[in-house]
Amino acid sequence: MAFPLTRMRRLRRTPALRELVRETRLDAGDLVLPIFVEATLNAPEPIDSMPGISRQPISGALSEAAECLALGIPAMLFFGIPSEKDAEGSGAWDPDGGVQQAIGAIKAAHPDLVLIADCCLCEYTDHGHCGPLDGSREVDNDAALELLARTAVSQAAAGADVIAPSDMMDGRVGFIRRALDEAGYEAVAILAYSAKFASAFYGPFREAADGTPAFGDRLGYQIDPANLREAVREAQLDLDEGADALMVKPALPYLDVIRRIADQTGAPVAAYNVSGEYAMVKAAAAVGALDEQATVFELLTSIRRAGADFVITYHAKDAARWLQKR
Ligand code: PBG
Repeated sequence: MAFPLTRMRRLRRTPALRELVRETRLDAGDLVLPIFVEATLNAPEPIDSMPGISRQPISGALSEAAECLALGIPAMLFFGIPSEKDAEGSGAWDPDGGVQQAIGAIKAAHPDLVLIADCCLCEYTDHGHCGPLDGSREVDNDAALELLARTAVSQAAAGADVIAPSDMMDGRVGFIRRALDEAGYEAVAILAYSAKFASAFYGPFREAADGTPAFGDRLGYQIDPANLREAVREAQLDLDEGADALMVKPALPYLDVIRRIADQTGAPVAAYNVSGEYAMVKAAAAVGALDEQATVFELLTSIRRAGADFVITYHAKDAARWLQKR
């Protein structure tokens, strides 16, 4: 039944025909906006490497939340920049920390928005690693668990709907789940950064959140970009420990990982279209090499096609605005 009986172009002929046979849809409801909160700021402070994105004071976080709601974006992911850092990262579980304050204020003003708290210590430690260090300057896995659990409980107490641990310590999901349950937060969900790769694409984020390791790198705890089976095992372990949803990060270089984890686990899957992926598009668009809107639609659709149920992306507000006009 090949050509000339079969002509694939028949169903590509008009916009309406293409609409009918479109397999993957992109909707503002599938997007999550990440936000950097710095409570001591008086006004938003632009991040040079991420045009269009700023560090936000609490008031700015509140306006971002209102904008998300108006645009149909159902969720935000919170990162904090503390005024002081220490060896343990104690700012992470400060009840008056920027993330806790922003979450509290937004929950009160906009109870329908889903508030996701990134749970990690690297923005809060003076050495920039994702947990406290042991005698040989390695991240002490089991000591980190206690501090991460404290952080998660403080975020839940502030009003977070979802805790998203991004530290990549072994056993953190189960540890955080038990701590949340013991504190009475059994309804708070866990979105595990299960397949978090040791990626070069986090560069702009580390500038934005001031979380570059002071020495060494994260290769000892994040996944080797070469490893697919290991990523699937991490995802399965996180589910076994009580994760409600899984995340793959970054997104674009790891579409095969998204597909495999979605198929193999059946769990809800998020993909994080990270800072470096965003910066590349913005830089190329700024010199006229790419059409920004078409590029963003194509890449977000591709991440969804690969199997992501929702996408965390710095393009969220722009994409939602463009979708409203389409
Ligand atoms: C913290 C964390 C990082 C990102 C999210 N959470 C940085 C890192 O692991 O170095 C990166 C997000 C982005 O690049 O947009 N552990």
